[in-house]
Amino acid sequence: MKAEMAEQVSSFPAKYGRVPHLVVILVGDDLGSQTYVRNKAKACDVVGIKNTTIRMPAETPQAALLAKIAELNADPEVDGILVQLPLPRQISEPKVIEAIAQEKDVDGFHPLNTAAMWQKRPNSSYTIPCTPKGIIKLLDEAKVPIEGKKAVVIGRSQIVGLPVSKLLLDRNATVTICHSRTKDLAEITRQADILVVAIGRPKFVTGDMVKEGVAVIDVGMDKDPDTGKLCGDVDFASVEPKASAITPVPGGVGPMTIACLMENTIERFLVKMGAE
Ligand code: GUN
Repeated sequence: MKAEMAEQVSSFPAKYGRVPHLVVILVGDDLGSQTYVRNKAKACDVVGIKNTTIRMPAETPQAALLAKIAELNADPEVDGILVQLPLPRQISEPKVIEAIAQEKDVDGFHPLNTAAMWQKRPNSSYTIPCTPKGIIKLLDEAKVPIEGKKAVVIGRSQIVGLPVSKLLLDRNATVTICHSRTKDLAEITRQADILVVAIGRPKFVTGDMVKEGVAVIDVGMDKDPDTGKLCGDVDFASVEPKASAITPVPGGVGPMTIACLMENTIERFLVKMGAE
């Protein structure tokens, strides 16, 4: 995807006079967020997207962040704005998400973009969130059939669980959404043809919780309590032998999410340039 996008973007200066510009705002110094933001900048460099990272201190008042967003909204040479989540306590995430101009919201978190997805509007002027979009691409790329299959999603977050459930439903899967208070979870996960895990607990899903042939998408970015290293929500060692397909952590959903962010940024740019 990155190579294809790099080729596409290389034709933009001649056609549109410039390349897309993504601005990422990082408030505070959360370790995970710093890694995400660094990887986003690297991917932009590979694809040829102009990128700016704005770092603000952890104690930044909400008003200062909102003022920065207003400035970027008004800048005609900024095509995408992403505020890295989570934000420090004094700042309201919904307020910040709503403040980003809908047409520059490359995360697809703005209420208008969320509404468009739930209403299934076939329109390129809306953005689909990166991680859910990438999960569907991974399944398609691995030729995992979705239509008519049982998909189980563990996690109900606004960023992953809810939107990926909707996208799977749109592809005619039968979707069950589970969460931390689901009873008899393993009985439900054992029925899954497709299992998406986004619960944020290290190695939570084990081999005995899945059936033979399942396709597993691990969205976890956890710290392994034994080794202190990055690990997923799925215990890869016990689940992988039973799975027909499985994403590793690191190296699975993370890079795909970033590739989709690049794609969303290019889409916003092209809509603005009147290309679609
Ligand atoms: N933090 C974790 N995932 C995401 C994401 O997809 N977008 C933003 N903005 N912050 C995140």
